[in-house]
Amino acid sequence: MSERTAGVIEQHIIDGQRVNASDEGTFDVHDPSSGDLLATVAKATPADVNRAVQAARAALDSKAWGGAAPAERGRIMIRIAQTLRERVEELATLESRDNGKPLRQARADVQVAARYFEFFAGIADKIMGNTIPLGPGFLDYTVREPIGVSAQIIPWNYPIQIGARGVAPAIAAGCTVVLKPAEDAPMTALRLGEIALECGLPPGVVNVVPGTGPEAGAALASHPDINQVTFTGSVEVGIAVAKMAADNVVPVVMELGGKSPNIVFADADLDLTVQGVANAIFQNAGQTCSAGSRLLVERSAHDALVSRLVDRAKTMRVGPGVSDPDMGPIISKRQLETVEGYVTIGRGEGAQVVAGGERPSDPSLRRGFYFQPTLLDRVSPDMRVAQEEIFGPVLAIITFDDIEEAIALANRSQYGLVAGVWTRDINKAMAIASRMKAGQVYINTYGAGGGVELPFGGYKKSGYGREKGLEALASYTQIKNVCIKFG
Ligand code: NAI
Ligand code: MG
Repeated sequence: MSERTAGVIEQHIIDGQRVNASDEGTFDVHDPSSGDLLATVAKATPADVNRAVQAARAALDSKAWGGAAPAERGRIMIRIAQTLRERVEELATLESRDNGKPLRQARADVQVAARYFEFFAGIADKIMGNTIPLGPGFLDYTVREPIGVSAQIIPWNYPIQIGARGVAPAIAAGCTVVLKPAEDAPMTALRLGEIALECGLPPGVVNVVPGTGPEAGAALASHPDINQVTFTGSVEVGIAVAKMAADNVVPVVMELGGKSPNIVFADADLDLTVQGVANAIFQNAGQTCSAGSRLLVERSAHDALVSRLVDRAKTMRVGPGVSDPDMGPIISKRQLETVEGYVTIGRGEGAQVVAGGERPSDPSLRRGFYFQPTLLDRVSPDMRVAQEEIFGPVLAIITFDDIEEAIALANRSQYGLVAGVWTRDINKAMAIASRMKAGQVYINTYGAGGGVELPFGGYKKSGYGREKGLEALASYTQIKNVCIKFG
């Protein structure tokens, strides 16, 4: 916990050691619920990133890791899962203070992180190849080898979940990792690295180097000795990272967010829908790559659904994450101003604010970065608030008249991460599922408890490659074909 290190620098984890930055530099991390200082963290220089990459490279070739039996990797990962579960309260409290999310959400995030290690532990010794029939006198087989050193650049919205989402499949496959957490919320990624070591992961297999994007992030993405990049964040930075990696012919998995629609037909179960739609946008104060940030509602259902959503938005308790409210603060003043700016843009475009739209008036919340749960009604599809990722608790509501219009509206986006559909009609649901240009479709639900088992990734500018599920292993393995002639 941060308390245990008050006045102390939160150090990097490189080659199994906790170390300061090479130039002794640090940066401050704040609690978005109050703006108070939470921790002082070692700020990685390019030299630190280089040391971390060299440690990961050495671990890859070491007896302890590269030479270990795959089942041993799985055993260590099971211990990591167990330790995360044992320490759920400590880790959830830290995540809540670092990111601002409600405590019960942070607990769920830690459980999901544990589940990633458990899920991928089970496959560590089952990453199999094929035999390919070439006829008499030949044996041809494939081996799926670890791709090597994985560079992982993660955002601040779900640090422990997204950290685990990348680290678990990478180490299951026998890779090693350099993890660069986001400067706004680096704390639980550091704890994850410590826990992994305590659970017997050899030094250098997972290195954690907090620092800024332009310095540490760019040094990592452009490093010539990495073999793969996993990036989650903005489209703009994702493109820059992919270009840096391209110079070294290094492949990238990109998860770049979205403007995901929830499509609601008049025949939907209203109670279920209200809950699903509200949760999809207000969870994590809307700072979720897969947030359901557009509501497309059939005209005849509009008034009933919107009035229920307004009730819900207006009665949600906004407050400090550790008080376990319905919604916590936005991550930073900068992000709060972005969200506020979008509401102003929406008003200017003619959208109608039917709930929220402002910072809360409660004086006890003045120091934190809070924003009210916000509903923008009468949004038309080409408004900026209908097209751009706001990354805050702001839902854009658009009305449609028939299923063809719903499909066209849903796909009218540069993004394609997730789509939700709410209807009792299986034919409508299946038509939507097959025609969405999106990587995941949910029918009468949205999200699935973290979705650890389900392949996840984008169409269009939401990215490429898949994380989660068994499909994630494709990014961390490379196939070697061996052809033998005999007889
Ligand atoms: P960002 O894309 O700048 O940050 C994500 C990660 O990339 C962080 O670890 C950051 O340090 C790193 N990074 C930044 N610049 C870099 C560079 N030049 N080279 C290498 N790494 C770099 O996201 P930011 O600024 O925190 O948020 C801006 C917007 O991005 C949000 O409003 C949201 O729309 C989107 N976003 C989407 C996320 C998602 O889950 N898909 C997560 C975070 C942000
Ligand atoms: Mg940025």
